[in-house]
Amino acid sequence: MSGAGLEAAKSMLAAVRRLAVLTGAGMSAESGVPTFRDAQAGLWRRFDPQQLASPEGFRADPALVWRWYAWRRELVAAAQPNAGHLALAQAAARFSRLSIVTQNVDGLHQRAGSREPIEIHGNILRSRCLAECGAKYERPEDLPAGEPPRCPDCGSWLRPDVVWFGEMLDPGRLLAAEEVVTGAEALLVVGTSGLVQPAAGLPAQARRAGVPVIIVNPRPTEIDQIADLIVTGTAAAVLPALLGGMAARGVG
Ligand code: OAD
Ligand code: ZN
Repeated sequence: MSGAGLEAAKSMLAAVRRLAVLTGAGMSAESGVPTFRDAQAGLWRRFDPQQLASPEGFRADPALVWRWYAWRRELVAAAQPNAGHLALAQAAARFSRLSIVTQNVDGLHQRAGSREPIEIHGNILRSRCLAECGAKYERPEDLPAGEPPRCPDCGSWLRPDVVWFGEMLDPGRLLAAEEVVTGAEALLVVGTSGLVQPAAGLPAQARRAGVPVIIVNPRPTEIDQIADLIVTGTAAAVLPALLGGMAARGVG
């Protein structure tokens, strides 16, 4: 962990009341959740991402895609929020507003106690109708039987409620994310490579709106050049050090 970056980031946050946080796969790395690319390890190595995470791939072999998501849901269920997730959840009390925008689909921010993170890539625990008839399932245990299950309302397939290759993000969620990052007094960017658009453009939008950007990552990212400060280290090491022990601050 870089001491100088950490101290500078702490001083920057001392005056901040509205904090926005953008998280990516690195946020959950220390919880043992593989990143999308790591998730192709083992059994799944012979399949390419287009096959497992695209509308075409799903239509070609819905059972294969469904099994891959079922396996990822098991990994997520077995994982626990790490010290970084917990530090963010606990820090909510110390800011007048702490809003999380996440690219992760694992639900670990909520399990750590963060309220309503904006999940711009969806959530693998939720499912919805492929034909968009409106059917939605919040929990895997509520799903009808079948692999993949059929939509009881229209007979189409049910699919995971995540953003696949070639799909647009939900426009309402993306707008909410843009408002959060541009309306904050600082943006913390944790564990994202900055490679995948449009999420990777959010820090630059914040910067253009005059919002200082702090990056937390153990390695260089594609968006380091737009950061005001970089804290080199992992989410579970840096976030408790950065956000823990801050004096509770009144709302205002
Ligand atoms: P990536 O897998 O592209 O990048 C992960 C980032 O996390 C890298 O910058 C790592 O250096 C960093 N990292 C690794 N371990 C870390 C740790 N312990 N603490 C903090 N950072 C760590 O993941 P994303 O940027 O999230 O999209 O990728 C974005 C999107 O690409 C994903 O949401 C997914 C994928 O395709 C969709 O599912 C639509
Ligand atoms: Zn349906």
